[in-house]
Amino acid sequence: MATDLAYYQKLLSNGNYKAINWDHVSDAIDKSTWEKLTEQFWLDTRIPVSNDMADWRNLDDDHRWVVGHVFGGLTLLDTLQSQDGLQSLRRHVVTPHETAVLNNIQFMESVHAKSYSTIFETLNTPDEINEIFDWSDSEEYLQNKAKWIYKLYDNFDEDPLKQKVANVFLETFLFYSGFYTPLYYLGHNQLPNVAEIIKLILRDESVHGTYIGYKFQLGFKDRSDKEQAEFKDWMFDFLYKLYENEENYVHLVYDQVGWSDEVLTFSRYNANKALMNLGQDALFPDTAEDVNPVVMNGISTGTSNHDFFSQVGNGYRLGQVEAMQDTDYDIGEPDD
Ligand SMILES: [Fe+2]
Ligand SMILES: [Fe+2]
Repeated sequence: MATDLAYYQKLLSNGNYKAINWDHVSDAIDKSTWEKLTEQFWLDTRIPVSNDMADWRNLDDDHRWVVGHVFGGLTLLDTLQSQDGLQSLRRHVVTPHETAVLNNIQFMESVHAKSYSTIFETLNTPDEINEIFDWSDSEEYLQNKAKWIYKLYDNFDEDPLKQKVANVFLETFLFYSGFYTPLYYLGHNQLPNVAEIIKLILRDESVHGTYIGYKFQLGFKDRSDKEQAEFKDWMFDFLYKLYENEENYVHLVYDQVGWSDEVLTFSRYNANKALMNLGQDALFPDTAEDVNPVVMNGISTGTSNHDFFSQVGNGYRLGQVEAMQDTDYDIGEPDD
């Protein structure tokens, strides 16, 4: 059964309401995550997507369909995060600073969900956009993902650790079948501004998945061996169920361009990363070496092909964009 820890932490022992004090931070990870997320703040409107029109016109209809519909799918999942995902986590925070971090994440999920519309408005006609949204609001395998996860978020009596698992599976695993397409094009030096938006989203999701996974691990270690074993059974069953559905989704979207197998390799690789965020062992044999090198190249472009921010107007300087490495954000580690 869920406990509403958050409710009690808002009140002092005398029943008064408690102000958040950033001078007394009980979990340093909250503070470092807040700093990282605010430092990497961005807005979709500052990326010149229209510079990608020449590349877009060179794509054939099948490839354009894939681009439009993977972004339709991503819009649905980021909508779910912005509307329900973070709200469900906020009911079970352990520190007030965790609430602040989740507030930041929730807002950025709205930026993510909106940024796909920035792409659609630039590349697609109004009729095409309507068709994409009709599709994402009805397509069975896409809706399965959203509905299964929403069901966990929406239930006030749900185990809060299961809600964290759902969050991490969504962000570190299920998004990646969609991210594959812009990364593939970026690896081929196409649609670089579209890809820039996706890389900014990916950079956020990387921190979100690590942070929420860390909070999961804090709660999980307090459970008994028996509870942990039962929980793992549920977690792996849920992952298999999502993966089976993902196979159907990927074939539906990608068979027409022949990319399904390599997209699924990428998805399995990221499913392992989701488990890693949760402090669990990998499930699938796939590693980074198995992923299409063009896509891995797309992920790491901040340092190789071109300067990611050179196309963004003056006065909008951000830190260097680069793919998160397993080692460079060990926020689950003990204090240095
Ligand atoms: Fe997101
Ligand atoms: Fe996220």
